[in-house]
Amino acid sequence: SHMEVDNEHGFAPLKNDLIIRTALGQVVERPPIWVMRQAGRYLPEYHAAKGSKDFFACCRDPEVASTLTLQPIERYAGLIDAAIIFSDILVIPQAMGMEVVMVDGKGPHFPNPLKSPDDGQYAELMRNPVDVATGLDYVYKAVTLTRKKLAGRVPLIGFCGAPWTLFCYMVEGGGTKLFKESKTWIYKYPNETKALLQKIAELCVDHLALQVKAGAQLVQVFDSWAGELSPSAFRKFSAPYLAYIAKELPPRLREMGIDDDVPMICFPKGAWSSINSVCDMGYHVIGLDWLHDPAQAVKAVRDRASIQGNMDPGLLYGSEEAITEAVKEMVDGFGWHERQGAWIVNLGHGITPSVNPDALRFFFEEIHRQTKSS
Ligand code: CP3
Repeated sequence: SHMEVDNEHGFAPLKNDLIIRTALGQVVERPPIWVMRQAGRYLPEYHAAKGSKDFFACCRDPEVASTLTLQPIERYAGLIDAAIIFSDILVIPQAMGMEVVMVDGKGPHFPNPLKSPDDGQYAELMRNPVDVATGLDYVYKAVTLTRKKLAGRVPLIGFCGAPWTLFCYMVEGGGTKLFKESKTWIYKYPNETKALLQKIAELCVDHLALQVKAGAQLVQVFDSWAGELSPSAFRKFSAPYLAYIAKELPPRLREMGIDDDVPMICFPKGAWSSINSVCDMGYHVIGLDWLHDPAQAVKAVRDRASIQGNMDPGLLYGSEEAITEAVKEMVDGFGWHERQGAWIVNLGHGITPSVNPDALRFFFEEIHRQTKSS
């Protein structure tokens, strides 16, 4: 079981498996908590450890990546229930041979984004075999080292970007509001787009499986741009690839000799009308952004999956009274007192860089206070 000693790596037994039991649908003593982007720029210790080092250089250095992963676990010891490996969704495009740089204060930038299917670059990407086991070996080393340093305190989450979201970055070359290139591809070159999405999906399975083999105990797929697609386009350009990952990962893990049920979380941000279809893909947990109403989401998901989310990250700029009220609305809306399970507490998206770390602590404490079993 998940609590036992891991013989391959000699990891310590897990002392807190709350998030795993919740993801697998069990009744639990309190809802587990973690936060997307919990290791990051809102923490002064993040800046101290990172210094002027390049973001991707930190990802590639297992010592630095594990130190950054552990920072929120140490600061909020006893309050949070999972660590997420310090890495980025864009390591897959990098492994495919694309250059990605992190521009300070601006975000990721691809100097040579994919232009069109007639371009030599597309043909080369489609033809080139990609071996993530060697290309992304630094991620797996960081996962193993982090598991050792965690010493069983909380489980470690591995992750990847969803094929649709990664595709957007590869053709846009960075963040965007218009999605002009992505829309040009899907509505002008649907077949070439689908071939590339399938290739990315296969690499996602490889990458998640290798993170689990290295020590990750749950996995999350981030479809941060799912909400840019109409319901019909989501059915064509995102859903099949999210479903492929959920279907292929468990048998891959069994082939690798991993017998535990590894919980899979899908975060299809903004895909409100598509939640129903995501519930039938095989993910154990559906991550929701803050535009979902908790009670309506519980009705829509029914008992097909646990729910993760979904406080507006912007509430962390608010007063303690506002946070207390928002927590109460989630506790009631997700039916915590009736269900005693099926809910993993998180924000509806990543924590923002300028949040006061004490506001996050207050949020965690408020969840603990309001969900204490009587
Ligand atoms: O704490 C964690 O959640 C673990 C690490 C993690 C990072 N990125 C570290 C990071 C995770 C899970 C991600 C996922 C990721 N990366 C996503 C999906 C989640 C989401 O927010 O939608 C996306 C879209 C990316 C791509 C990316 N990486 C962007 C758009 C940016 C710039 C914007 C920003 O918030 O800084 C990054 C940089 C990044 N990834 C930082 C961190 C800690 C900040 C780097 C820095 O400037 O120090």
